[in-house]
Amino acid sequence: MKPLQLSPTFNVDDFLKQNWQKKPVLLPKLVQNFRDAISAEELAGLACEEFIESRLISEFKPGEWLLKNGPFVESDFTSLPESNWTLLVQAVDQWVETVADIKALFDFLPSWRIDDIMISFAAQGGGVGPHYDYYDVFLLQGSGKRHWQVGERWASTESQRPNTELNLLQEFEPKMEFTLSAGDALYIPPRFSHWGTATSDGLCYSIGFRAPSLAEMIEGFSDLIIKEQNPVNRYEDSSVTSHLRSGEIEPQMLDKSFQQLSERLADKSKFITWFGCHVSQPKYPELIQGLDQTLSSEEFAVLLGEGVSLFKNPSSRFAFLESGDEAKVLLFVDGAMVAFPVVQLSNITSLCQHSHFSAESSASLLTDPGMAELLRQLLNQGSLLVSE
Ligand code: SIN
Ligand code: CO
Repeated sequence: MKPLQLSPTFNVDDFLKQNWQKKPVLLPKLVQNFRDAISAEELAGLACEEFIESRLISEFKPGEWLLKNGPFVESDFTSLPESNWTLLVQAVDQWVETVADIKALFDFLPSWRIDDIMISFAAQGGGVGPHYDYYDVFLLQGSGKRHWQVGERWASTESQRPNTELNLLQEFEPKMEFTLSAGDALYIPPRFSHWGTATSDGLCYSIGFRAPSLAEMIEGFSDLIIKEQNPVNRYEDSSVTSHLRSGEIEPQMLDKSFQQLSERLADKSKFITWFGCHVSQPKYPELIQGLDQTLSSEEFAVLLGEGVSLFKNPSSRFAFLESGDEAKVLLFVDGAMVAFPVVQLSNITSLCQHSHFSAESSASLLTDPGMAELLRQLLNQGSLLVSE
């Protein structure tokens, strides 16, 4: 099959300047000659698997919604009416290579921001109701047509998203409307209310992005700092004076503790390390299994000498950071960091950018002993796999 391509009329710079994280936009025929990467039947098959997250949502009466969580059995689908329901399957990119390939189209954005590709099949009239998400999403239409209504952005100070299973909004006032057909995409930034309704049976691919919440960052980063603290370091009040009223906490008594605390939290290079590890955490770590019998350097060399090609585990996440101050490249894979000298920048870039490595491209990485060792470790831990 021909590789997927973005429309030549799509202007990345304009999109990033005007829309990314800011304003919804219709991107007509964003993907050239787009054809479904999965069939509705295959999607229903995935929704019957125990380890795959799926939902069926139907509007059985106007404004009355029903949610059923998977896994499903065949009769769940055969008993459905002709219209007004949607089947949603999460993270289909983990299971179907043609779906995973769609992610490469979005390489004008950091790959570690992509969360997953959720696919919905909606029968005519089907939708999930008015709601907003906390993340950026591209809604890429496959077969069929879907009509989208987009409202305002919910202010971060407004009450939280309704905490019901469907998170539906009580009030929804559409400001923009678009009908999408194959290859069209609608970009929706975080917190813009939206509601899609199928005008004919068809599939929609939600390329969702993830962004850690501030609470998550505070929690995760402080967990790391906590582990490094020596219990000897404690609150000190050697400067206490005789003016003290019993029970009183004088603000200056806290100066030293507050300074120590602020210094630890203000360690940017530590925060970078933590962040890289955090955003490269796999969504489904259980899908990354190390080899039962790890390969020694010699065994690894023999294997690659046989001309095998390697590919990334679809569940693995790779990211890197060029640290100018330290002349280092920090590589993050599946929640762990390895530092390399900056001369390895192009090798690390290529490792992060591609998902498949032919025998020739692996061979070029292998000419460097540091890279050879890295690839061996990644293969042993299950982040890289050998192609059949
Ligand atoms: C859908 O595919 O209908 C729902 C996707 C979304 O609104 O985020
Ligand atoms: Co949504």
